Amino acid sequence: MAADRGYGTVARLFHWVTVLLVFLMIPAGIAMTSEGFGDIRNELFIFHKGAGAVLLVLVLLRVAWRLIRPAPPMPESVPAAQRRLARWNHVLLYALLVVMTVSGYVRVVAGGFPIELLEAFGIPPLVPENTDLANRMSVLHKFSVYALMAFIGAHIAAASYHAFIARDGIAGRMWPPFRPRA
Ligand code: HEM
Ligand code: HEM
Repeated sequence: MAADRGYGTVARLFHWVTVLLVFLMIPAGIAMTSEGFGDIRNELFIFHKGAGAVLLVLVLLRVAWRLIRPAPPMPESVPAAQRRLARWNHVLLYALLVVMTVSGYVRVVAGGFPIELLEAFGIPPLVPENTDLANRMSVLHKFSVYALMAFIGAHIAAASYHAFIARDGIAGRMWPPFRPRA
């Protein structure tokens, strides 16, 4: 796979910053909506909303970048069925990241709540208050996270298979976060 240098540095950085934020936001989201975290609930909410707003911008930029810079073709050594599965999992991961970040943003802003980080930068709410819309987004947000976790699980299982069992160079298409020199 020497000729396959994998994803470019921009795509890799988008991928790994997203991973970092999502892996912080899922536990923060679960903790802030659970009993027993009363002391730090406010801080968790402020962190979750702020990191979520950053992620929303990142995800939109990432999707735009992906549309102008298509993924490097997968090597023929990967069976066609596996390539199709991987492509669909990636499409669903992107779709779920958009659904999660947009539903979270709309849930908060339409509910009339602040996003402190955006306020600090003087960015006004982009959606008018609407309790009914906020409630529907809340339900979408809470249920979509299960789908996101399931597809992330399948994705990590596949990546680990390629890295540790097949050792076919697929993991190196996205790791490390900077594309190594040729
Ligand atoms: C990929 C991005 C995101 C992930 C993985 C995520 C994850 C979660 C999780 C796991 C919960 C707990 C769900 C439950 O109650 O069972 C939650 C709740 C929540 N999230 Fe997010 N979240 C994301 C983006 C956002 C964004 C962008 C915002 C707002 C700017 C946001 C605001 C909220 C709020 C307010 C709740 C409390 C539940 C509610 O009242 O609707 N989230 N999130
Ligand atoms: C929040 C968790 C994650 C999300 C949302 C995510 C999302 C994605 C997406 C959407 C792609 C497709 C890139 C494209 O074609 O534009 C991708 C590729 C990739 N991811 Fe992840 N990922 C996550 C975690 C991980 C982890 C933890 C690993 C390593 C164990 C990993 C390894 C890879 C690899 C190796 C590829 C390249 C696959 C290929 O060559 O086609 N990902 N990821």
